[in-house]
Amino acid sequence: MDSSVRPAAPLRTETFRRSRPSIVGPDEPEAPFPIVLSGPVQHGFGRGGKDLGCPTANLPDESITPLSSVTEPGVYYGFAQVDSCDPEDNEVYPMVMSLGWNPFYRNERLTAEIHLLHRFKSDFYGRDMKAVVLGYIRPELDYTSREALIEDIQTDIRVAERCLRRPAYQRYSSECQWTP
Ligand SMILES: Cc1cc2nc3c(=O)[nH]c(=O)nc-3n(C[C@H](O)[C@H](O)[C@H](O)COP(=O)(O)O)c2cc1C
Repeated sequence: MDSSVRPAAPLRTETFRRSRPSIVGPDEPEAPFPIVLSGPVQHGFGRGGKDLGCPTANLPDESITPLSSVTEPGVYYGFAQVDSCDPEDNEVYPMVMSLGWNPFYRNERLTAEIHLLHRFKSDFYGRDMKAVVLGYIRPELDYTSREALIEDIQTDIRVAERCLRRPAYQRYSSECQWTP
């Protein structure tokens, strides 16, 4: 993928929303997955937490290449761990990841944003994060309303939870551990 040119994103329709499957992908990860990414958590624009109720931990640009060089913009699932100073935030958690240009917000560059399925007690900015990406959920889309984007992200979370419960996926959770 050429990460310097923003591609056109299809507009998400009601038909797409109604027809979304509750589980996606094969029974075990298939090439190009698993893909391991790591780097210190960066600040985004802060809209994830404020606008969408979905805080995201952004990876630095140079950490995205192992994924962006072999896949398309879209939503992915896997596991991630932040090397947090608080032991209560230090586990490996399921995650959903958006790799893309956030067409709804008209971003000017490609970003990788990870939403960990855990309510963090401490701030994770600047802490090291490691993620293992195991599968693809859907393409990146444009939306006519913020509510429609929020609804799709909530569906992404449910789909990721179901996908990751499969035993062959669970086995990969240790691959993103900082402290085994
Ligand atoms: C699971 C998930 C799916 C997303 N899907 C889309 C999408 O299809 N289209 C889009 O424009 N943005 C999508 N986003 C990105 C949000 O627009 C982005 O996280 C938000 O703008 C917050 O960015 P910020 O932290 O830089 O402020 C998605 C984010 C997540 C976590």
